[in-house]
Amino acid sequence: MKFEEGKLTDAVLARMQDCDDPRFKTIMTSLIRHLHDFVRDVELTEGEWFEAIQWLTATGQKCDDKRQEYILASDTLGVSMLVDAINHRFPAGATESTVFGPFFVEGAADFEKWADLSNGAKGMPCFMSGTVRGTDGKPIANALIDVWQSDGEEGLYDVQVPDGEFYCRGRIRTDAEGRYGFRTVQPTSYPVPVDGPVGVMLTKMGRHPMRPAHVHTMITAPGHERLTTHVFVKGDPYLESDAVFGVKESLVVEFTQNPAGATPDGGRCDRPFSTATYDFVLAKS
Ligand code: BEZ
Ligand code: FE
Repeated sequence: MKFEEGKLTDAVLARMQDCDDPRFKTIMTSLIRHLHDFVRDVELTEGEWFEAIQWLTATGQKCDDKRQEYILASDTLGVSMLVDAINHRFPAGATESTVFGPFFVEGAADFEKWADLSNGAKGMPCFMSGTVRGTDGKPIANALIDVWQSDGEEGLYDVQVPDGEFYCRGRIRTDAEGRYGFRTVQPTSYPVPVDGPVGVMLTKMGRHPMRPAHVHTMITAPGHERLTTHVFVKGDPYLESDAVFGVKESLVVEFTQNPAGATPDGGRCDRPFSTATYDFVLAKS
């Protein structure tokens, strides 16, 4: 068949007649249709097409075992939150999920209840506590909570500091009443990495790269869906314009400021500290 602009999409789709993976065929059919519609919609110039190819090439070249520029592109274009929403339609009452992000580390150190996860990171001391329950309201004992966050001043994760030690990261477990508690520093807002093609894209779109301050948690417990979420700091100036669209109202929490004195772990702090409580609810699997 000879090329005809108006028939090209159907011609490309027809070439998949021997594809024997139905799901892959569904995905590719939709992708090809949307891609062709997009090119027609904006009447893409050859210069723009080549710029896109160069951007995709640079995005791949920026990736290594520590940096995933494609995930960052997906995050900043809202794709990651859309995939998250479609795949985690938890029942009413369950804690909402949000974006995973690139700074999780598998196999972080285990800590006892009320241990200090900050490992000397900069920032105001912060005590976080609460419960983990099922949607039936029953406490979940021995749930595993992975915690990770930035420091409280520069907004950097430990993995962003070359040759640094771990900080603000660890695994804790709930006690027999489903309670957890740990000490950390109050996180601060921070920019997503902008020293790559995603940074160039954000600047060109007239967007800022900031994420509002948050603590990441990933909670696993037998018989329950794994929950990957954040607890956001109420009052943060970027809650309404998170660069990765991850904020949900139910995840925004007051971090109460306290003068030096008695702390929730039964000890004392010789400087001002904050406290935050959040009760997580896991959906049944
Ligand atoms: C984060 O919260 O750690 C994060 C999420 C998406 C992109 C960059 C960072
Ligand atoms: Fe984060």
